[in-house]
Amino acid sequence: MSAADEPANLRFLDLHPEAGDFRAEVLEGLADTPKRLPTKYFYDARGSQLFDAICALPEYYPTRAEIEITQREAEAIAVDVGPDALLVEYGSGSSLKTRILLEHLRQPAGYLPIDISKAHLLATARQLARDFPAIEILPVCADYTQPIELPAPSRPARRRVVYFPGSTIGNFTPDRAEAFLRHIGQVAGPGGGLLIGVDLDKDRAILEPAYDDAAGVTAAFNLNLLARINRELGADFDLACFRHRAFYNDALGQPGLGRIEMHLESCRAQRVTVAGQGFDFDAGECVLTEYSYKYGREAFAALAARAGFAVRSFWTDAAGRFSVQMLERVAR
Ligand code: AVJ
Repeated sequence: MSAADEPANLRFLDLHPEAGDFRAEVLEGLADTPKRLPTKYFYDARGSQLFDAICALPEYYPTRAEIEITQREAEAIAVDVGPDALLVEYGSGSSLKTRILLEHLRQPAGYLPIDISKAHLLATARQLARDFPAIEILPVCADYTQPIELPAPSRPARRRVVYFPGSTIGNFTPDRAEAFLRHIGQVAGPGGGLLIGVDLDKDRAILEPAYDDAAGVTAAFNLNLLARINRELGADFDLACFRHRAFYNDALGQPGLGRIEMHLESCRAQRVTVAGQGFDFDAGECVLTEYSYKYGREAFAALAARAGFAVRSFWTDAAGRFSVQMLERVAR
């Protein structure tokens, strides 16, 4: 598409995010005890496809629950956000939930999706710009964990509201989650807000199947990390000799806090070569690939308070499994 065909309400900013050092992070994780692999590298093309398939699984409730809440509470959310706000989305994958918001917000000053994947970001932003011609769309290609200077919308915003759906906050340990919320508070600025999806702590009978589904899609998603390492780092992981493991851990010493842990378990003693370095695995040895933290209502409110946010609204799906929360930055 030539620049002349770009919708008039679209302005793209490329901050050229560092690709991140996949090789260094993998080698560092495998040299650690216990071994671990970096969670953020799940999402290559195949991994993103598998994640979309996870979202459609009968056992994986978070995506459906969050859409249910967003649809049911769209009016209340729009009231909390208020008129003339700039909506800043962190890691704007599929825009389905965003579309629901944009249909209800009161004359938003703009929508500013931030994503590290340029192609996906631009394709989504172009479609939104066509579908919402009255809203300025300001995609920024950047790593949202790094400080970013946001472009100003043509029409000044009354406030900034950061949108962080999907319970991605659960991938951070609570200490890192607190630091990240504080960073979001800086971006939102005085009077700013944060609309966030948070998966709730609950019975392991619901949690564990969501991360260990009968069709084996989550297993394929987990093992795909090894396939990616083989392909991109010249490694020789035998995918048939590693097994997907997912379990709930509530022994974290805090009420209302638990986490799903995903691991890859070595089925036998074996040596794997990654980028020329050998790594030995014992039979039954596990490599940590992901944490997905689950918070009780009070536990998350306490974490938000430590980061300078107060909970203004708290909504759950009918089954009470997932929450969408509107947080307000408190002046301190
Ligand atoms: C995208 C991080 C929210 O933790 O539920 C789904 C990722 N991992 N199944 C989650 C995931 C395995 C997901 N998040």
